[in-house]
Amino acid sequence: MTVEAEPLARLRQRTSEKWSAYPDDVFPLFVAETDYPLAPPIAAALHAAIDLGDTGYIGEDDRAKRAFARFARDTWGWEVDPGRTLTTTDVSVVIVESLRMLIEPGDRVVITPPVYPPFYEFIPEAGGVVEEVPLLDDGATWSLDLDGLERAFAAGARAFLLCHPHNPLGLVHPRPTLEAVAALAARYGVAVVSDEIHAPLTHSDASFTPFLSVSEDARTVGVAAHSASKAWNLAGVKCALIVTASEDRAAQLRALPVEVEVRTSHLGRIATEAAFDDGRPWLAGILESVESNRVLLGRLLAEHLPEAHYREPHASYLAWVDFRGLGWGNEPAERILEEARVALVRGLDFGREGAGFARVNIACSPEVLTEAVERMGRLR
Ligand SMILES: Cc1ncc(COP(=O)(O)O)c(C=O)c1O
Repeated sequence: MTVEAEPLARLRQRTSEKWSAYPDDVFPLFVAETDYPLAPPIAAALHAAIDLGDTGYIGEDDRAKRAFARFARDTWGWEVDPGRTLTTTDVSVVIVESLRMLIEPGDRVVITPPVYPPFYEFIPEAGGVVEEVPLLDDGATWSLDLDGLERAFAAGARAFLLCHPHNPLGLVHPRPTLEAVAALAARYGVAVVSDEIHAPLTHSDASFTPFLSVSEDARTVGVAAHSASKAWNLAGVKCALIVTASEDRAAQLRALPVEVEVRTSHLGRIATEAAFDDGRPWLAGILESVESNRVLLGRLLAEHLPEAHYREPHASYLAWVDFRGLGWGNEPAERILEEARVALVRGLDFGREGAGFARVNIACSPEVLTEAVERMGRLR
């Protein structure tokens, strides 16, 4: 059952960032929120909590952890030990607290641009220094630069912040690559934080392998970040998981201040449990819509903006569009916002490699996507 996006008039009543940042004549295809209705089991769980006045602190509660472990086992065949996980506020906090736990101030932390812009901020927030090892592009697809990573690790980088699946490309790293990363990290004593927030949104033609499942090396070096917040649009209710899979890493987690865990939103815990346990059919419906829009975007670009290039993502609802052929400069998103009234995320926010690109959020109705690309096409 395909899940359809809400009508625009209803979406405009939302007050989250996507629907409050721009005036009503702008199509907001920027921040990673979706236009789908909330999954009914999640809405019911949140309504029940509100009706009960069940809006206190989370306390010591492992229900979200156990629901995630069930989801991970059923979806990816990955056995997660809830006793080796913590919940916390959101994936941003997972990354910052994990890095704080794993590095010393001034240590270098590798990222692979073009990549999710806040990575550039999380690392200094945790006391680290950003080191860039850009992805390789062979003209057909992107991949991690394993030689570049090895050079950075050998030269003293202490951690690697992996984006898997990779935002903004929807790139699902293949298992052999993950095994190679884990082996390199183990050889050079580098910690790996694998941000897997987009994993539940892996498309039907790809296969997601959790980093911590690939090898003993991965379990020794790694920490994974998970959340229901992208797949079920729950960013505002605040709950994410720090997942470890070795006794040493779990002991490090337990040594974190208890506040890291008890700042989890109680409503976030309730919504997360409902999502992972009861939101699976709804997620399948959302993926049908996204995969259909992924094809539609290619058709629309070919028709209205043939100089623009785009490779279909294999996970999530973000599309990385190359506008360089149009001669709209390094930040095509600026002209597109001003003249076409469509808000995209600026390419350079993702690193130098983003010059001439912009990120398009396709978790909207086909009608909105169509009109947005038609508007851009009129700028040619
Ligand atoms: C790769 C990636 N990591 C982290 C986040 C932020 O997650 P949270 O809202 O849970 O902090 C996002 C949000 O889009 C993301 O795309």
